[in-house]
This record gives sequence, structure tokens and C-alpha cells, in this order.
Amino acid sequence: MIVPRDSKPPRGRARRPAAQTSWDPLAYWYNGWVGEGGSEHHREVAIPATVRLLEPRPGERILDVGAGQGVLAPVIARTGAQYVGIDASPRLLDLARKHHGGAGRYILGDARQMSSLQGLSAASFDAVVFLLSIQDMDPLEPVLRSAAWALKPGGRLVIMMTHPAFRMPRQSGWGWDEGRKLVYRRIDRYLTPLPIPMKLLPGRDSTATTRSFHRPLGMYIDGLAEQGLLIDRMDEIPAHKLTTAGENAKAVDLALREIPLFLGLRSRAVQS
Ligand SMILES: C[S@@+](CC[C@H](N)C(=O)[O-])C[C@H]1O[C@@H](n2cnc3c(N)ncnc32)[C@H](O)[C@@H]1O
Repeated sequence: MIVPRDSKPPRGRARRPAAQTSWDPLAYWYNGWVGEGGSEHHREVAIPATVRLLEPRPGERILDVGAGQGVLAPVIARTGAQYVGIDASPRLLDLARKHHGGAGRYILGDARQMSSLQGLSAASFDAVVFLLSIQDMDPLEPVLRSAAWALKPGGRLVIMMTHPAFRMPRQSGWGWDEGRKLVYRRIDRYLTPLPIPMKLLPGRDSTATTRSFHRPLGMYIDGLAEQGLLIDRMDEIPAHKLTTAGENAKAVDLALREIPLFLGLRSRAVQS
């Protein structure tokens, strides 16, 4: 195990999560909820879309930031690239090693301070990826600075996230327009960055809290540009499953096809 310098826990004492936004308190619930290979959303939509943007090649070094229990590791390993996952949750990393230990290497640490972690060095990765994790980290600036530090010149940074313009948790939702017989998406707020407490899902310990950090799209684009990362591809991705039955099935299908669930951004480290 690799821990931040100066913070190695004494033997026998429980390892503490490396950041307040860590999902360590939710680790076993999350593992049970998404499963070893990821949730259906992961498998059918988010992972394939991420790999399309990432374009991993044999021999490349790929850093997965907010790796959780390592769902991306076997997919990257199959391409012949070398996988390294970093996460702030010791429990999730233990699960990652258990499920996918042979597919890569896992490092405990804070995504905002990767330059202080043993086992990572500057300009050593061909690509950095955030798979459904960047909206769980805060603030954004040190996270992107840290990721840019890890990237080789010309390297790629891929972000896959819940679409911030359409799918803000608790601040958006579906509605039915009876007059026009259509399903619409209601957006309550967008421009103001907002920490949003995560909704309690079945089986979750109600005392374990996490927050999602809503930010308007411009904060990502400007934040990347400030680190010399320029976007060269953007992918807006709908949910994969369309309803086939029910009273308003056609209208629901249209809304699901037209209003994206995920947003993928690929940027490149410009060489100065
Ligand atoms: C929603 S989970 C996604 C995990 C994985 N990428 C997946 O798709 O299953 C978000 C992850 O980000 C991690 N995380 C949050 N803040 C972090 C930080 N500052 N440094 C490192 N990891 C962090 C959490 O511990 C959690 O594992």
C-alpha cells in the first residue's frame, strides 16, 4: 500500500480516508450496489463511452482518479495499457485489489495532492481519467492542477460525468406536459456551483453522508484551460435503456433519447 508522505498510520490503527469527500463510509454499500464489474450504467454506457474518448493503447500508462473499487481496471488492462487507480477510500481500494488486483496498481491518496504521493511522479501518465468521480471532489482547481501535473506533455485527460446542464441531483427532474403530450426536463438551478447532499438509496447507512458538487459546464472548460488542457472532444450520452411499454412510452423514449444522461470531455495537455 502507498500512503501520502508524512501520514503513514501507525501499525494496528485503522487507515483513515484520505479526503473528506472520500466514499469510505459508503464503501461496502457502494460495492454491493454497483457490483464487481460496475452497475448497468457503467457497463452499458459510461465505461464504453469513456474508453472511446480515452483511446488507451498498448504500453500506455493510464491513471484513474477516484477509482473506487476499480471497475475500469480490467477494461484498461485488456487494451494492453497499464492501469493505476487512486482513491481516498482505503476500503474501496481493498475491494479493488480483491476484485481486480491483477489488472493494475492502486494508490491511497487525495486527488487534490497527487504530487505529494509516493509512487506517483510528474509527467508520467499518457492519460488521466475521471470516471463518474470528479463531481464528488472539491474544490475543482487543485484536482485539475494535480491531474495536469501527472500528465505527460501532449497527454489526454478524460472526464465522464453526469451531465451538469440537465441532470443536477435534486435540482432537476422530469415532468409531463399534458397539452403537448410530451415529457420535459425541468431545471431548477444551473449557474451557481452547489454542494448537494446525496440522496439516500436503499440499503445505505443514513449516517454516512456524501455530497455531489454541481458546477456549470464553463467551470470545467475554464478550469481545464487554466491547467493547459484544451478540449478536443465532447460527447453527450443518453441513457441506454428506452421504455417499450406504458401509457406514454413514446414520449418517454423521445425524452430519454434527446436529453443526455452523461457528458464526456476529452482534453489534451498543450505542449508549451
Ligand atoms: C461515485 S465514486 C466513483 C468510483 C468509480 N470511478 C466508479 O465509477 O465506480 C467517487 C469516488 O471518488 C472518490 N473520491 C472523492 N473525493 C476524492 C479525493 N479528494 N481524492 C481521491 N478520491 C476521491 C471516492 O472515494 C469514490 O470512490
